[in-house]
Amino acid sequence: MTKLAFLGLGVMGYPMAGHLQAAGHDVCVYNRTAAKAEKWAAEHGGRHAATPREAAEGAAFVMACVGNDDDLRSVCTGPDGAFAGMGEGAVFVDHTTVSAKVTQELYALAKEAGLNYVDAPISGGQAGAENGQLSIMCGGDQDAYDAAEPVMTTYAKLCRRIGESGAGQMTKMCNQIAIAGLVQGLSEALHFAEEAGLDGRAVVEVISQGAAGSWQMSNRYETMLDDKFEHGFAVDWMRKDLNICLSTGDEIGASLPVTALVDQFYKDVQNMGGGRWDTSSLFKRLRKLSG
Ligand SMILES: NC(=O)c1ccc[n+]([C@@H]2O[C@H](COP(=O)([O-])OP(=O)(O)OC[C@H]3O[C@@H](n4cnc5c(N)ncnc54)[C@H](OP(=O)(O)O)[C@@H]3O)[C@@H](O)[C@H]2O)c1
Repeated sequence: MTKLAFLGLGVMGYPMAGHLQAAGHDVCVYNRTAAKAEKWAAEHGGRHAATPREAAEGAAFVMACVGNDDDLRSVCTGPDGAFAGMGEGAVFVDHTTVSAKVTQELYALAKEAGLNYVDAPISGGQAGAENGQLSIMCGGDQDAYDAAEPVMTTYAKLCRRIGESGAGQMTKMCNQIAIAGLVQGLSEALHFAEEAGLDGRAVVEVISQGAAGSWQMSNRYETMLDDKFEHGFAVDWMRKDLNICLSTGDEIGASLPVTALVDQFYKDVQNMGGGRWDTSSLFKRLRKLSG
């Protein structure tokens, strides 16, 4: 039994922390909204703490899955932050999708304090977190990664170190760039099918088995056709991620024209009131445009 902390019990963090407790670890959770931490502890039999620092005290590994760069800084640093509670040699594992810049900044702070820091963003959606089937892309020191890998595999089907600190987040950017154009393409295909009077389900049953098949197509077409978007990966988070991709693209000289366009489509979805809708709601935008 390893003593662990988990910070951030959102759509992803809540089930991930549950897998750790179910695997026999001694987990202490922290969540900004304390009621969620209390609910988690009652449901899973683990402990909960009032601050990240308190949760991190005595933990060999501190996992986090919060919102954005500022949220991550706020749970790591300061008098109530996790770094203040962690003991020498403990490993901080960040599952949040954030910039490589904040990752390197926190990695350096952690090293100064005698701690380890692994960036470990995730892919696989809400279902992947609930079923323990996430893909995890990591950056950081090899020995820290090697120590954290057995803990992360509790909720992962694949966990790999790509390179030095920040490499996990850079890989996650590749993931989001690939998804942006793909979800728009899927939305256009379903929209085209509807406008052509075809049975969308029948269309997907066939085309998902050929070259057009994708995770998004298999896992999202039914809810898209049923106009259900109150689940999954929020548009607000996707815009946060695409903005990281676009600014990093500028810095490294990568051309991302489709990513920039799809980001604007997501802005339209936010203006439709869909900031918390799943990213597949690009389809709802097209339905609205055609009246
Ligand atoms: N959902 C997905 O499918 C998915 C997939 C891959 C990656 N991600 C990434 O994983 C991260 C979490 O996503 P999610 O869908 O789980 O989000 P979520 O449901 O909105 O949960 C966010 C969590 O972060 C906490 N938080 C936010 N700001 C905070 C702050 N300043 N201080 C402390 N805690 C704070 C929230 O606390 P409260 O409960 O108090 O609000 C909540 O526990 C994001 O970076 C997202 O981009 C999500």
